[in-house]
Amino acid sequence: MTKKRAKRNKTITLTPDEYIYFSQKIYNLKEINNIKIEDILNKTINNDLFDIINRLPKQFADLVIIDPPYNLNKEFNGFKFKSSSKNQYLDYLRLWFPQTVSLLKPNGSLYLCGDWKCTSALQQIMEENMTVINRITWQREKGRGALRNWKNAMEDIWFGIKDPKDYYFDVESVKQKRKVIATYRQNGKPKDWEKTEKGNFRLTYPSNFWDDISIPYWSMSENTDHPTQKPEKLIAKLILASCPENGIVFDPFAGSGTTSVVAKKLNRQYVGIEMNKEYCCWTEKRLQLADKEPDIQGYSGGVFWERNTANLQIAEIKKKQTDCTDF
Ligand SMILES: C[S@@+](CC[C@H](N)C(=O)[O-])C[C@H]1O[C@@H](n2cnc3c(N)ncnc32)[C@H](O)[C@@H]1O
Repeated sequence: MTKKRAKRNKTITLTPDEYIYFSQKIYNLKEINNIKIEDILNKTINNDLFDIINRLPKQFADLVIIDPPYNLNKEFNGFKFKSSSKNQYLDYLRLWFPQTVSLLKPNGSLYLCGDWKCTSALQQIMEENMTVINRITWQREKGRGALRNWKNAMEDIWFGIKDPKDYYFDVESVKQKRKVIATYRQNGKPKDWEKTEKGNFRLTYPSNFWDDISIPYWSMSENTDHPTQKPEKLIAKLILASCPENGIVFDPFAGSGTTSVVAKKLNRQYVGIEMNKEYCCWTEKRLQLADKEPDIQGYSGGVFWERNTANLQIAEIKKKQTDCTDF
């Protein structure tokens, strides 16, 4: 369970004692027939989704975030997911996706993640079950190089809603702080940008192309050994935009618990299902750490920052603290 790591490596791991401790904090619903919201709210559920999906309470979630196994050969701590044809993958999606949509409130939203290979099946299953209103492209920067193909460095996140006339979307909460290159002025004053000691910045409305988020790596305090862990910054954008404060976020393939952890950090409630016990324990450890370290890398002062701006963010926080004490 524990490997030797470099001193600066911040990957979250478990000692044997922690494994026992956090095992006691996770839940198994196999024996419960009539599952109620209080059985699952703010809990990490260690079950196979297929064993419980039909027994979960209907319409409880404001937001569903789904990061399923993609149509690839991939091992998740002993569970081997096998790549198949598009039709076979669609059959797999049809086993759980419609039931998952039935767990959303009538005004709820859903995001479904995938790569180029499974994205057409994802679009199809989304269109069969809800109204698709966007596809976000995440340029995840890293990707394995290939000699006879283009390196795969992007993912899709499909955005669907149940009711186009009634859904929650708070665009103000997901604005981006970007460096300004062309500094236009009107009557001698900056137009839509701010001059600071560290440079010129503009707050912009976010588009559906996300190039400001790296995948977690060993020097980041959110990192675990999960093979496909999503960045907290990415999940934070989805939650802030599409779930009101105190609302409920549901993740049926929770992995290392990124959705639950970010929901907790942003004052939302969560429900996470994951069939691997060790991943569930990582989730519980991350949830406990979130009490002491509520920050989300790349999100501070209520805005999302570009990559590699940590020193600018620290400078701004320090400046705000000094301004507050400077009466
Ligand atoms: C792509 S990963 C999710 C990673 C997650 N977003 C994170 O940030 O760590 C998919 C997860 O689904 C889990 N999984 C696959 N099939 C499952 C099933 N039938 N029931 C519950 N969990 C399942 C795998 O163990 C894996 O951890």
